[in-house]
Amino acid sequence: AGDGPLTGKHILVTAGPTHEPIDPVRYIANRSSGKQGYAIAGALAELGARVTLVSGPVALATPPGVTRIDVETAREMADAVDRALPADAAVMVAAVADWYVEAAAQKLKKGEGAPPLALHTNPDILATLAKSPTRPRLLVGFAAETERVVEHATAKRVRKGADWIVANDVSGDVMGGDANTVHLVTADGVEDWEPLPKDAVARRLAERIAAALG
Ligand code: C5P
Repeated sequence: AGDGPLTGKHILVTAGPTHEPIDPVRYIANRSSGKQGYAIAGALAELGARVTLVSGPVALATPPGVTRIDVETAREMADAVDRALPADAAVMVAAVADWYVEAAAQKLKKGEGAPPLALHTNPDILATLAKSPTRPRLLVGFAAETERVVEHATAKRVRKGADWIVANDVSGDVMGGDANTVHLVTADGVEDWEPLPKDAVARRLAERIAAALG
């Protein structure tokens, strides 16, 4: 990372899905390409930040100047986030699976009917960080919504204890695509951003973070 408005700042970014294994060959996951989170990590590094990117399984190159920590499950992501602290800001873009399965040690066999899956609740990494003594000064969450986008995101900002929520309308073909329609929800209100390529969303958000951290 070169010199810029974020020089000297450490920023944590989570990105991608998590995979929750069912057995050695199967998993459950949320849909996420990781593109938006990777673009944000890269944009923050371009502004001079030291960036730690905690990433679920994705097929993307690490942006220049970014330190990447690969994880598979939500529980591993929570541990990696903990270890990466302290940070001046955190941007939680990962599409974390809400549940995990107690994984079978051997591949489950077909033939005796479908096995029942007992789901257990994963830690909410963002909400946990919001309450932790090492809470970053600026905590940014994402909200992928298919309806009443701003209303849900506004409630989520308060419920999770984030400073900002980037609300993302995923009713179209955002998943894996290159463009994004987002709303920035803060304590001061809501900004509607025009539809932008994911790297432009990333640059604008990075600039806003730089301004907020001073
Ligand atoms: O509740 P929901 O999953 O919609 O919240 C999305 C936001 O919370 C994102 O910023 C996501 O990265 C974060 N999150 C998390 N840990 C979870 C679930 C969501 O950090 N277990």
